[in-house]
Amino acid sequence: EAELYSSYKGVLVPSYVHPAESLKYYEDFTFRPDDILIITFPKSGTTWMQEIVPLVVSEGDLTPVLTVPNWDRVPWLEEHRAILLSLEQRASPRIFATHFHHQMMNPSYFKIKPRVLYVMRNPKDVFISSYHFHEMASFLVSPGTQDEFLEKFLDGTIMFGSWFDHVKSWLNAGEQEHILYLCYEDMISDLKASVDKIATFLGKSLSSEVVEKIADHCVFKNMKQNKMSNYSLVPEEFMDQKKSEFLRKGIVGDWKNHFSTAQEQKFNAVYQEKMKDVKFSFPWD
Ligand code: PPS
Repeated sequence: EAELYSSYKGVLVPSYVHPAESLKYYEDFTFRPDDILIITFPKSGTTWMQEIVPLVVSEGDLTPVLTVPNWDRVPWLEEHRAILLSLEQRASPRIFATHFHHQMMNPSYFKIKPRVLYVMRNPKDVFISSYHFHEMASFLVSPGTQDEFLEKFLDGTIMFGSWFDHVKSWLNAGEQEHILYLCYEDMISDLKASVDKIATFLGKSLSSEVVEKIADHCVFKNMKQNKMSNYSLVPEEFMDQKKSEFLRKGIVGDWKNHFSTAQEQKFNAVYQEKMKDVKFSFPWD
């Protein structure tokens, strides 16, 4: 099991998807000022943003999301596929995803300061989503019991490290004027408002009809039907969606269906300690 992950800048990454040559490629990657980066701790809304942002850029033309798989449409820079995609030749604005903490970003990022959409989600829901994902994805270490996985989640000894460190690293970023902070819960409660916010941040003025069209396409039940975005193109040996679907539930507060009282108390104690200096007002607090 140990060989499934490697350590990069002190954070565990799944070696199969992020081999050394991919991490090196990212290290040397040159950003453009008009690049758009979707940045998340895993299971916080990446796939959702990989649908929304291309539609904002295309001003509601569905072609990119209906013809290109999400991982090519918005590639992760740290993934093995990025090397094969000739990203240097792509037209602007390029859209990328990454799960890196702020201090893991490469020298070009800090020099160029491209635009960042940073999405956060209630860590209890992230934990539950992640637990199910670890059960279905063969390139990840099996989660064990929920108690065992909780221990690792709170310690940050899972892929991409600690949720707390990730969120704090991005909330404390110096280049705040280049970053739009979004929360999954706000997107659930008013997707149109979130699409509007994203469009404004990206300098796009979209009519209310286009915003409505994008939001309608991106609601969970509709997006789940899009085979370019629901991971049904990934072979079962990598992701067994009979065990757990990638677009699993798409709701707020599923943790309440899974946490014992003891787990909730433990989580709250760690959360309060780790987040005590954070000023951001989260929708789940
Ligand atoms: S990953 O592996 O990091 O790319 O995963 P990520 O996409 O960040 O997170 C997966 C969770 O996001 C949910 N999801 C959505 N929720 C609401 N609406 C839409 N359209 C949507 N698309 C994806 C997905 O269902 C996972 O959450 P859970 O709680 O497991 O359902």
